[in-house]
Amino acid sequence: KEVTANMYRQGWDERNGGNISVLLTAEEVGEFSKSKTIRDINLGFIADPIVREKYFLVTGTGKYFKNVKKDPETNLGLVQISKDGKSAHLLWGFADGGKFTSEFPSHIMCHTSRLKIDPKNKVVMHSHPTYTIAMGACLPTDETVFTKKLWISNTEAIVVFPEGIGVLPCMLCGTNEIGEATAKKMETTRLVSWTNHGIYGCGHDIDEAFGLIETVEKTAQIYMLSLGHVVN
Ligand code: 13P
Ligand code: ZN
Repeated sequence: KEVTANMYRQGWDERNGGNISVLLTAEEVGEFSKSKTIRDINLGFIADPIVREKYFLVTGTGKYFKNVKKDPETNLGLVQISKDGKSAHLLWGFADGGKFTSEFPSHIMCHTSRLKIDPKNKVVMHSHPTYTIAMGACLPTDETVFTKKLWISNTEAIVVFPEGIGVLPCMLCGTNEIGEATAKKMETTRLVSWTNHGIYGCGHDIDEAFGLIETVEKTAQIYMLSLGHVVN
């Protein structure tokens, strides 16, 4: 609730922009792990065995980050990926009949990539931070160029994301294709820029994912305010 309100306040998540998913353990889910399935929601892809039967708290499609705090039960959902990886059992939330974010393929595929190399990964976060999008629009869609421009604009950048940032060209969002492309990049980095759209960050907890995106956005702001003429 706090992070969605904060991201809205930052101006990164206009309208229904952005989505978050958090992997929860059975202990964290507590009594809800025994809840009867409210309904099954088709995934539209086959989830990898590593995420099957796992629990995710996820933002709803078309829902506004600014509204999560006052009405979590409508704007969020708790789902468990089915045993066959084809659907998600809704255990709580999406109270108005809604469903998970249209970017759920990207989220689940990114969780899959990260879990395979980092079993502690819990969070996938997508947002539309203004300066990050502007900076990406001014550069070739080249992750080496984007990464180096960030690193030279702010000495903290290389400390916070030494592996650099992945970059995808402008692609149709909400599809399995963009999910697969993002997840492929997530095999080597925790950050992926979607040109002309936004960014993905992930991490062990909400602070790590948010902190990565926040550092990229701050650095992109410095780069844009210095008109891209960082020479030192
Ligand atoms: P959702 O409302 O489906 O989460 O989509 C928002 C978004 O940012 C699409 O990329
Ligand atoms: Zn988006």
